[in-house]
Amino acid sequence: MKKYNAGIIGATGMVGQRFCSLLAEHPWFDVTVLAASPRSAGKTFEEALAGRWCMPSPLPAKLAGMTVLDAAADVDKIARACDLVFCAVDMKKDEIRELELAYAKAECAVISNNSAHRFTPDVPMIIPELNPEHAQIIPYQRKRLGTNRGFIAVKSNCSLQSYVPALYPLSAFGVEDVLVCTYQAISGAGKTFDTWPEMVDNVIPFIGGEEEKSEKEPLKIWGSIASGEIVPAASPRFTAQCIRVPVSDGHMAAVFARFERKPSIQEIIDIWTGFSGVPQQLNLPSAPAKFLHYFYEDNMPQTKLHRDLENGMAVSAGRLREDSQYDYKFICLSHNTLRGAAGGGVLMAELLCAQGFIG
Ligand SMILES: NC(=O)c1ccc[n+]([C@@H]2O[C@H](COP(=O)([O-])OP(=O)(O)OC[C@H]3O[C@@H](n4cnc5c(N)ncnc54)[C@H](OP(=O)(O)O)[C@@H]3O)[C@@H](O)[C@H]2O)c1
Repeated sequence: MKKYNAGIIGATGMVGQRFCSLLAEHPWFDVTVLAASPRSAGKTFEEALAGRWCMPSPLPAKLAGMTVLDAAADVDKIARACDLVFCAVDMKKDEIRELELAYAKAECAVISNNSAHRFTPDVPMIIPELNPEHAQIIPYQRKRLGTNRGFIAVKSNCSLQSYVPALYPLSAFGVEDVLVCTYQAISGAGKTFDTWPEMVDNVIPFIGGEEEKSEKEPLKIWGSIASGEIVPAASPRFTAQCIRVPVSDGHMAAVFARFERKPSIQEIIDIWTGFSGVPQQLNLPSAPAKFLHYFYEDNMPQTKLHRDLENGMAVSAGRLREDSQYDYKFICLSHNTLRGAAGGGVLMAELLCAQGFIG
C-alpha cells in the first residue's frame, strides 16, 4: 500500500493529540508535520505540549522531538510536505474557514474536524459507513477552487455520531421524527477534570451551538448530490437537548423515533447487528469489524465499559423498546474523540485514499 504524508494541524489540542496517537503507527499515513498556534510554533512537540499530553498511551517517541510549525504562517511549507492534513483547531469560525481553504488551494487534502465548512454545499460531510458516496462531490469542489488535488472534507459533530449511525440504517422504514437528549463528555470541550474542575460532581444543561448542530447536520448526511451540491434532506425532523455530564470521554444519547412504517423490534436489531458499510467491505485499517453493537442487558451500554469498543470506533446501542408517544426509544453511545472526532477523521481519510481522492 502506498504511504501518504500527513500533517496534524492543532496537534497540541485534545483532538490533535488523538490524531497523534492514532497516526504514529498508522500503516498508510506518515506524520511529516505537526502544527499549532504561534504560541507553540518553533518548539519541539514535547515542549509545546508543556505537560498537556492527556492520552492514555504515552506521547509517541517519534513525534516528541518534531518541531511544531505555525498552522497559519507556514501553510505553503506544510502543504508541500503533506498529501493531506488533519485539522482540529480552536479558532474563530471565519479564521478556520480561511485556513482550511488556504490548505486546499495549496493542493493539500484537508480532513477537518472543525464545523467551519460543514455547510459549504460542495464540501462532503462523511460518516464512512453511511454516506461514502458523498465523496463524489469532490470534483465539483475542486473545479470551484481551481485545484487538481486540494479539497476539504469534513467530519460531522461528535454529538450525532452515536444516534445517526443507529437511525440511518433504518431509512427504508422512513425515519420521520427524532427526539434526542445527549449526555456529553468533557473531552468534547477539549477539557479534562484537571483543566475543568467545576465539572466534578456537576451537570451543565447547555453546550453552545450543539443543539443546532445535532438537529441540522444529520440532514446533510441524509442529503443527496444534485447540480454540484449536496442538498440536505427534508427529513427526518430532529429536536435535541445537549447536556454536559461529568465523564471524561464518551457521548451517550437517549433517542425517541417515529417511522412512516413502524418496523418490529427484531427487524431493527437484525438491521443493526447485520449492518456493514464500505469501510468493512474494503477492510480499511481503522474500520471496526462490526459498526453497531447491540446490548440486550437493561443497564447497557455504559460509557465507561463500552466507549472503547473496537478501539473506540464502534457504536453501541441498547434498551430498544416501544414508547407511548413515539414508536421506539433506545440508547446509543460513541467515543467522542475517537469515532466522534480523530478516529472518524482517520477512517474518512482512509476511505478517500481508497476511493482515489488523495495523493
Ligand atoms: N473534543 C472533541 O470531542 C471534538 C469533537 C469533534 C470536533 N471537535 C472540534 O475540533 C476542534 C479542536 O477541538 P479540541 O477539543 O481539540 O480543542 P483544543 O484542545 O482547545 O485544541 C485547540 C488546538 O488549536 C490550536 N490553536 C489555537 N489557536 C490557534 C491559532 N490561532 N492558530 C493555529 N492553531 C491554533 C491549539 O494550539 P496551541 O496549543 O498552540 O494553542 C490547539 O492545538 C474544534 O473545532 C472542535 O469543535 C472537537
